[in-house]
Amino acid sequence: MKADIVIKNIDNLITLKGPNRARVNEEMREIGLINDGIVALKDDKIIYVGKGELPASIKTHKDTILIDGKGKTVTPGLVDSHTHLVHGGSREHELSMKLKGAKYLDILEAGGGIHSTVNATKEASFDQLYDKAKKSLDIMLGFGVTTVEAKSGYGLEDFDTEIKQMEVANKLNEDHYVDIVSTFMGAHAIPTKYKDNPRTFIDIIIDEMIPKVSERKLAKFCDVFCEKGVFSVEDSKEILEAGIRYGLLPKVHADEIEPMGGAELAAEVGCITADHLVAASEIGIKMMAEKGVIANLLPGTSFNLQTGKFARAKRMIEAGVPVALSTDYNPGSCPTENMQLVMSLASIVMKMTPEEVITAATINGAASLKLEEQIGSLEVGKKADLVIFDAPNLDYIIYHFGINHTDKVIRNGKLAFEKTTNIL
Ligand code: NIG
Ligand code: FE
Repeated sequence: MKADIVIKNIDNLITLKGPNRARVNEEMREIGLINDGIVALKDDKIIYVGKGELPASIKTHKDTILIDGKGKTVTPGLVDSHTHLVHGGSREHELSMKLKGAKYLDILEAGGGIHSTVNATKEASFDQLYDKAKKSLDIMLGFGVTTVEAKSGYGLEDFDTEIKQMEVANKLNEDHYVDIVSTFMGAHAIPTKYKDNPRTFIDIIIDEMIPKVSERKLAKFCDVFCEKGVFSVEDSKEILEAGIRYGLLPKVHADEIEPMGGAELAAEVGCITADHLVAASEIGIKMMAEKGVIANLLPGTSFNLQTGKFARAKRMIEAGVPVALSTDYNPGSCPTENMQLVMSLASIVMKMTPEEVITAATINGAASLKLEEQIGSLEVGKKADLVIFDAPNLDYIIYHFGINHTDKVIRNGKLAFEKTTNIL
């Protein structure tokens, strides 16, 4: 077989070799490290992963791209499995409000927060949303992210805007190097219009929106913001179960700020992931472990909300909950596309080991999007999505924080990003 791309002499090749499912407990520390590694790619697939030289069965040809991995660390493409990628406007004015002590939920309750992004997203045209989201995707790709989840939720009762967001995400999925998985999150806030009558809005989501999202194949997942003053556990359950009936896989924003029993709900409903979980209960964590619900943790959000409270990642891993990590990129609670920073926060603040962090950001992220058969590890037959970091080892990427360590990104077997230095 002839290879299109070969990367050899890789100091640290992190394969994440193992079962095609979310990893738990000590599995989260088994990263399949190969020193002096070599990887061969053909078309959009990985055809060889090993040590030293290629076997005789794999040949190079005159057009094969040869990349030297000396001094480099190679990992599977990073998976950012929780973002609010497509939205209008930005909310930098909330920084000074938060510095003065304003709380996220108070800003939302007062008609700001998500509601102000709803207005900006309604006003933006398809092309404006597309261009803004594309800029963010370019940045994400540069940080080594090859697969991204994108939620709607900035249209709310304005279903056309919800659809517009999902259509932008789906169009970018066709046009951009980065693979995008779409999530319907109409239940992101109670619209101001339905403040005194949230039940009407819930009925609209269940009876009108979910069937249409499913029929038009606009999304793979359905998500709900289960939070104090937003959607209750009962409301969330109803919405997620309606989604399931229409083939939308359940995810939930759970116990982000107040302890709500969101983790318990996720286990009960059979959510693929429960996300945030800063205030998750011990019982909820145990129930998630039992049901194999992935904890999708978002430390960038804790950092930006200035609460000083982070999810108990180590406890979750110890309890047997598979842990994933994502940016939660959005204009309010986490305005960053930097997955590498999130990985550093996970380690420095939540005390996850670098091995747990890379597992969370690759194969467990893939499982969070039900893509564990295709991506998330470097193994023969999987998609040729990988990152070459200009870093001598994994620890270095996480320890030397806040900068971009990416040297090159290969996505679907094609060179998609290369670091350039433009110092004049
Ligand atoms: O995951 N909490 C709800 N949704 C987002 C924030 C969205 C926003 O503030 O615009 C989150 O934190
Ligand atoms: Fe979110």
